[in-house]
Amino acid sequence: MNDATILMIDNNENFLKLFCCLPETNDFTVVPYKSAKDAFDYLCRKGADVVISDVQMPEMTGIELLTRMQDMRPDIPVILITAYGSSEEAITAIKQGAFHYFEKPIDDKLHLFWSTIREAVEKHRMLEEIESLRKEKALRSVRGSSIIGASEGIKKVRESIEEVAGLKVTVLISGETGTGKELVARAIHERSPRRSNSFFAVNCSEFAPGLMESELFGHEKGSFTGAMAQKKGLFEIADKGTLFLDEISNAPMALQSKLLRVLEAREFKRVGGTSNLYSDFRVVAATNTNLETAVAEQRFRQDLLYRLNMYIIEIPPLRERKEDIPRLAEYYFKRFTAIYHRPLEGISESAMNTLITYQWPGNVRELVNVIERAVITCRKNLITTRSLPLASESGSTLSSINLKEMEKHMIRLALQTSGHNKTRASEMLGIARKTLIEKIRRYHIEKSE
Ligand SMILES: Nc1ncnc2c1ncn2[C@@H]1O[C@H](COP(=O)(O)OP(=O)(O)OP(=O)(O)O)[C@@H](O)[C@H]1O
Ligand SMILES: [Mg+2]
Repeated sequence: MNDATILMIDNNENFLKLFCCLPETNDFTVVPYKSAKDAFDYLCRKGADVVISDVQMPEMTGIELLTRMQDMRPDIPVILITAYGSSEEAITAIKQGAFHYFEKPIDDKLHLFWSTIREAVEKHRMLEEIESLRKEKALRSVRGSSIIGASEGIKKVRESIEEVAGLKVTVLISGETGTGKELVARAIHERSPRRSNSFFAVNCSEFAPGLMESELFGHEKGSFTGAMAQKKGLFEIADKGTLFLDEISNAPMALQSKLLRVLEAREFKRVGGTSNLYSDFRVVAATNTNLETAVAEQRFRQDLLYRLNMYIIEIPPLRERKEDIPRLAEYYFKRFTAIYHRPLEGISESAMNTLITYQWPGNVRELVNVIERAVITCRKNLITTRSLPLASESGSTLSSINLKEMEKHMIRLALQTSGHNKTRASEMLGIARKTLIEKIRRYHIEKSE
């Protein structure tokens, strides 16, 4: 079942072993546990698609586990296996919200047993999907929101947006990772006469080399193997809209010269096509590295830089506008307490001071993630310094580790928080699912971590 995970708990080791040998388990990943307490810790960290648990166990019974799961992870269905003839246990199980119960022995009802497990997995997947849609919707309203901050730096950014939104001029947004470049790009689009048309975001470093040209400019049917039908490219689709070219500094040289041509002439051809096409797109580009340096290092075309830097918006890093931190923290605190239905009072003064003194190498995105995580994990009314995940597992502070380490840390955090749901984790990180998968592979992040 698409690699669904079953967490199986029984203090009887033989029963666990027998279960793991059943041929049906081939369709699943089975995580066996002898103790419900340990299993519960695992479930809080990693999650599972379904839990199957014995009821009578020392330390923590299956019913206790079930009640705790209702508090922590009500989305994971729990199937209980009760002792033969204990109808009371069965009644309690159902009352407490068990997905189903089976009386031992289960050998004579294996067919029903497995179909129930499959049903439970389906239910869990559905709940997960609903939750991720709900969160996406809520986050979209966060994204569509205004630009928070009253520092001189942000005031200037806001003024620039107002000034340039109504024009067709190409805009280059520069700023460190997580400073809000995409947010600003969307704000430009939303305040422009193009707002009723689409905003397309393209990450220039994410293109598979062979497909780049056809993605951007489209192709004619039969122009290459696999081109089964004519396809419009992004420049064509973005007619009357805005095309956001993210991480432009990472565009391969071949793409750079094509971009230059289309920005100059505003005309292009589909791959394999002969006629010139015209499209009324507006380009907003973003970079997190200095393009002048990239030009000096011959990684970026000077003529393309001239085309792009007609109007530059520079977003200062968060550590240079610390006065924005309280507002941002409060703003996202409110959003996340609403999204996660957590009625918390606020952020303590000392926690706020910690947020203000921290250097934020990942800028606003890191702050958003820290607040989100604090809201989820906070066990008190108030977010205190203890609930701020600013120190890495190794005990070093995040400010002392480099960006790559921080990225790895954030990915692990997001995977843990989302129970290894990559779609949800990528939403939390604000990156594409594809990018997340690529990063997991590159950093060798294991599911067992
Ligand atoms: N001034 C701000 N007010 C409110 N939210 C902000 C602000 N700046 C950034 N954010 C939020 O921080 C997160 C990161 O912003 P965004 O994706 O725009 O950054 P970026 O500069 O494009 O980052 P990267 O270089 O990593 O792609 C988003 O959730 C965004 O909504
Ligand atoms: Mg971005």
